Amino acid sequence: MTERKNNGKHRTWEVFAPGRINLIGEHIDYQGGWVLPGAISLGQWIKATEIDGPGIHLKSPLGTWTYTSAAQLCASNPQDKPSAFFKGIWSSFQKRHPLSSVGLEIEISGNLPLGAGLSTSASLSAGLGQILHQVHNSPLSEEDLIQIAYETERAFVGTQCGHMDPYAVVKSKANHLLLLNNSDLSTQHIPCDLGPYQLVLFHTKVTHELSHSPYNERRAAVERAWDILKPWGPKDAVVAALPYLPLEVLEQHRSKLSPADYPLARFTLDEQLRVENAVNAIKAKDYVALGALMNQSHQGLSELYQVSCPELDTMVHWSQNQPGVLGARMMGGGFGGCTLNLIHQDQLADWTLDALETYRQAYDITGAVYRVDLSDGICAGQGGFMQC
Ligand code: GLA
Repeated sequence: MTERKNNGKHRTWEVFAPGRINLIGEHIDYQGGWVLPGAISLGQWIKATEIDGPGIHLKSPLGTWTYTSAAQLCASNPQDKPSAFFKGIWSSFQKRHPLSSVGLEIEISGNLPLGAGLSTSASLSAGLGQILHQVHNSPLSEEDLIQIAYETERAFVGTQCGHMDPYAVVKSKANHLLLLNNSDLSTQHIPCDLGPYQLVLFHTKVTHELSHSPYNERRAAVERAWDILKPWGPKDAVVAALPYLPLEVLEQHRSKLSPADYPLARFTLDEQLRVENAVNAIKAKDYVALGALMNQSHQGLSELYQVSCPELDTMVHWSQNQPGVLGARMMGGGFGGCTLNLIHQDQLADWTLDALETYRQAYDITGAVYRVDLSDGICAGQGGFMQC
């Protein structure tokens, strides 16, 4: 972030807030499980300029929003999703630090595709939270910023998400994955050297709206399952959650769960184990094993957790059968968005052309391909609590 005089009068602040991928560990963050995300080089730039008067003016490619003051923004009645975000961020920030009357013009731009499952929401929330932190020179920590983004998504936008996205956006490190334990929110940076292989995203352009999708229903179902199985689960608070239930205990008591809830619980336990195995595979540079885990994760997400869609399934199954591909799966919340593929660099050019053509022929939609470069989390310059 930079802060400088503008025409000798008005201060400006700038932030780059990245999107994220998740290598493996899908839909288990909100259950207290392990996940393995990382920030990417696509993201959003946010620039704030001090203005005369107390107004807050926000501009993005999606529209413009004007408030007479920060107080009016916090008291507003959101009419669309971006205004729900703004209200959430300003209100959550205010709970931790008083808002000043400084007027701001804020411009949001970037290259993160919307609805691609790359965490535009957490990137925007954390980026705006960081801007407010700088404008107010507040003592807020990285964890506060993460909580502001988390609260905004849950309380103001309505997706009952987990902590993965804001953690990845804020705490990631270049060339590393972030191993996040969602039961105690501890993190480890795992060096990610994929040798001759490359992570690549295929965006189906089928967009999802998690707050209105069955995402919240999945969460309610696994909470129901855990309530039933809890008496036989681990007692220690840190591991008292469904992902830590021994598999034999689930199988022994499966008849207590409804036929619809059992597959979700089974996926949860399998996926948790896959994260642990994926970390070991990365450390051992066993790329074949890593790819196999990605394939298994997709099968579980599609058949057991049922958060895939025909477009994702088509492109995952196609990719899994291409030369040089070790693994492919849907990524993120699901119901659209991107597939994540582990591809030998020598096959990348052919794979890209063939993927776009295959998808066009199947759905008459022009998809998009993005090479994943694991990058630093939210980017601040001098004076911020985060450096890049
Ligand atoms: C969305 C949510 C995350 C996580 C993923 C699925 O991105 O915001 O918290 O649940 O879906 O893994």
